[in-house]
Amino acid sequence: SAMFQVWLYQLSKAGKLCVPAMNVNDSVTKQKFDNLYCCRESILDGLKRTTDVMFGGKQMVVCGYGEVGKGCCAALKALGAVVSITEIDPICALQACMDGFRVVKLNEVIRQVDVIITCTGNKNVVTRDQLDRMKNGSIVCNMGHSNTEIDVASLRTPELTWERVRSQVDHVIWPDGKRVILLAEGRLLNLSCSTVPTFVLSITATTQALALIELYNAPEGRYKQDVYLLPKKMDEYVASLHLTTFDAHLTELSDEQAKYLGLNKNGPFKPNYYRYNSVICCNYETKIYKISIAIAVDILLLGIS
Ligand SMILES: NC(=O)c1ccc[n+]([C@@H]2O[C@H](COP(=O)([O-])OP(=O)(O)OC[C@H]3O[C@@H](n4cnc5c(N)ncnc54)[C@H](O)[C@@H]3O)[C@@H](O)[C@H]2O)c1
Repeated sequence: SAMFQVWLYQLSKAGKLCVPAMNVNDSVTKQKFDNLYCCRESILDGLKRTTDVMFGGKQMVVCGYGEVGKGCCAALKALGAVVSITEIDPICALQACMDGFRVVKLNEVIRQVDVIITCTGNKNVVTRDQLDRMKNGSIVCNMGHSNTEIDVASLRTPELTWERVRSQVDHVIWPDGKRVILLAEGRLLNLSCSTVPTFVLSITATTQALALIELYNAPEGRYKQDVYLLPKKMDEYVASLHLTTFDAHLTELSDEQAKYLGLNKNGPFKPNYYRYNSVICCNYETKIYKISIAIAVDILLLGIS
């Protein structure tokens, strides 16, 4: 998980990592498929199975517009929900704007919102103070990290009553009778309440297995006691193994084309820093790159004029 990967880098920085490690979490075939597409599939399933909520016209707030948030938003938007985003990062916020979502602070909309979905990897993104101000019948759930994103502990106070209405669904009842529906006690909604597409799991599992094989087969000394990213060629191999499912036929580079692009005909086909665009968004690094080029050109033009 993301937290495990942070811990690995901390160990490595402190010189305490005693074996080479592969960070599969940041490989393209993990991030774009497990985080983005898996959540795009399972967010609707998780909400429907637990609450039977109708999506059309509902005011939904997705906290965090990273890979998971982007996947959730794409699915919710497709069913006609009115989706707003909260973000701390101006680049992801700008992506959300360009994808047609309103970027808001949770406090500004908290009294109107029907459903809150957290996808930040952070802690206490929804606080007790905010839960106090939500309207009757609103739903709160988490698609991000573990059980830290919603401050569930703050709801276990004597003045609030908890009523378990069915498995993974609790009504938290305020003294005035207001009910907020909490799903999976703040744990991951899709892992607790819906199925997860096995095809996506296959991609993640293949990535993990290939990382192990790479570490095992590598010649002595290639990998030191540090954290590495999966070689791009392996990422491409994971993807190509899964293409057969769709009867997809890849185009092969001609000798002339390979020479023109400066590529090996068998890959890797992209430089290491290339991070691939998502369905509905530009990627982070690509965006920084484009924005910095735009600024550089502006400065140049200003200088000339
Ligand atoms: N449910 C699942 O099946 C599933 C699958 C993959 C990953 N995850 C988990 O989901 C989390 C997010 O993963 P990701 O790949 O989208 O990460 P990400 O880093 O791409 O996205 C997280 C986003 O949240 C934003 N953010 C951080 N704190 C915030 C705050 N207080 N308010 C608003 N936005 C905030 C960040 O700026 C970032 O853009 C991770 O914890 C990851 O482990 C869940």
